[in-house]
Amino acid sequence: MTGHVLIIDYGSQYTQLIARKIRAAGYYAEIWPAGSPVTEPLAKKPGALILSGGPDSVEAPGAPQLDEALLEAHLPILGICYGMQLLARRLGGELACQTQGGEYGPARLTVTDSPLWAGLGQKTFSVWMSHGDRVKRPPKGFTTIGQTQDLPQAAMAAPDKAIYGLQFHPEVHHTFGGEKILENFLKIAGLSPDWRLDSFVTTTVKAIQEKTQGGRVLCALSGGVDSTVAAVLLAKAVGENLRCVFVDNGLLRHNEAIEVETALKAAFPKLNLTVAKAQKFFLDQLKGVVDPEEKRRIIGKAFIEVFTKEAAKLGPIDFLAQGTLYPDVIESISPHGPSAMIKSHHNVGGLPKDLPFALIEPLRDLFKDEVRALGEELGVPRELLWRQPFPGPGLAIRIVGEVTEPDLAIVRQADLIIREELEKSGLAEDIWQAFAVLLPVKSVGVMGDGRTYQRAVAIRAVTSVDAMTADWARLPDSLLTRWSSRLINEVNGLNRVLYDISTKPPSTIEWE
Ligand code: XMP
Repeated sequence: MTGHVLIIDYGSQYTQLIARKIRAAGYYAEIWPAGSPVTEPLAKKPGALILSGGPDSVEAPGAPQLDEALLEAHLPILGICYGMQLLARRLGGELACQTQGGEYGPARLTVTDSPLWAGLGQKTFSVWMSHGDRVKRPPKGFTTIGQTQDLPQAAMAAPDKAIYGLQFHPEVHHTFGGEKILENFLKIAGLSPDWRLDSFVTTTVKAIQEKTQGGRVLCALSGGVDSTVAAVLLAKAVGENLRCVFVDNGLLRHNEAIEVETALKAAFPKLNLTVAKAQKFFLDQLKGVVDPEEKRRIIGKAFIEVFTKEAAKLGPIDFLAQGTLYPDVIESISPHGPSAMIKSHHNVGGLPKDLPFALIEPLRDLFKDEVRALGEELGVPRELLWRQPFPGPGLAIRIVGEVTEPDLAIVRQADLIIREELEKSGLAEDIWQAFAVLLPVKSVGVMGDGRTYQRAVAIRAVTSVDAMTADWARLPDSLLTRWSSRLINEVNGLNRVLYDISTKPPSTIEWE
């Protein structure tokens, strides 16, 4: 091995993606938090350094800086976003700090000749931006190797030192050729792709067995990809000591509880699955609540209460297992951690401190596409692996405002129509998620000869690979027309349909 890649994490939402892309290309990558002494990771003799993006402004008081020891190691360096700005500032360039606004989402990058762009086959292509500050003047010895219409210094290079800076994010799926750009950097750094991942299944099963030591595990199953794969992995590790509980919280999609129960019992009779009926309990807790974070916290807490009750019935239980994924973890970390807080995902942020079980989250370092690959290896049927992702807090976060029984009925019926028509169009496989969001807005319409004054739904349909970034789906008129006419004609209480054309970032996929 000619050395591995050391990634310094300045708190970007995407740091883990950098590592994942690099590992997928066959190079070993290790992440190290900015601000911690770098003696230890440097002692392992990395062959290249990547400085991640981050939410801070480089010049803000207390913003994480570039450790001198990293520069003194004279490694090839790739600075991404904040990482590029750090390099520019430290090496004598000039920054323009933005007090307001910034550039988020897609931009067209035009590049000049550089080995960093080798094999891309295009001089102008789409890249993903997410930044406030920017480099105004690169340091001496650097040349500009890429620019966008709004950003004259979108990429810079000092090829003799093998130091590169990119204002955009090559690690996100929506950047054209992003993986190639990262690989080009590693080739320039002289690394060779000689690292292979140990079998995740074998190592994780062993780790679970060591942790549980024959104790009993309760697994929260939602029927989604993540919790199903987690449960099957746990069944492999702890066998008869596994108990699975599916909570019917009343916030599920049409017929979901019964469909999930039937599919799971047929595919995996050994999961020891029980269904806990708690519709009224959840709705009562949500009465009068409109704040999205409050909803998420309440739902997370209600889940734990239901599990605790079920555990008492199934007991004694020692561990609670969840299918938490890396994106859930990274988006739930507090503002004082490395990543800026976006939403508290119910299976992470909502957990009380005095949890009566130890937690097992065997998938917390993985992304959705990796979990699907793992599911395939474990023999999970395709129809369970390729279900549309559905958030733990369910339809509650697709009703903007208070969650009530009548509004749940509207959003549930709208969701069914959207999924039915998507299936019929043959486009379902291209779409990450397509669903309805019920808005607290009423508008005037006319139906038959009468005036109506009713609610609006927004359709959110996105393409994505890992939910870290997403683009709104460009769908044919015929599908949009079918959606609109069926929603208005069939769902009582709706007279207007909107189509959400926001990308992530700056928006998120769910509205709350
Ligand atoms: P956002 O809205 O953060 O969603 O762009 C990213 C992906 O995660 C799903 N999601 C959740 N999944 N618990 C989950 O298990 C949650 O609390 C949660 N919130 C959002 C969302 O549907 C999308 O696929």
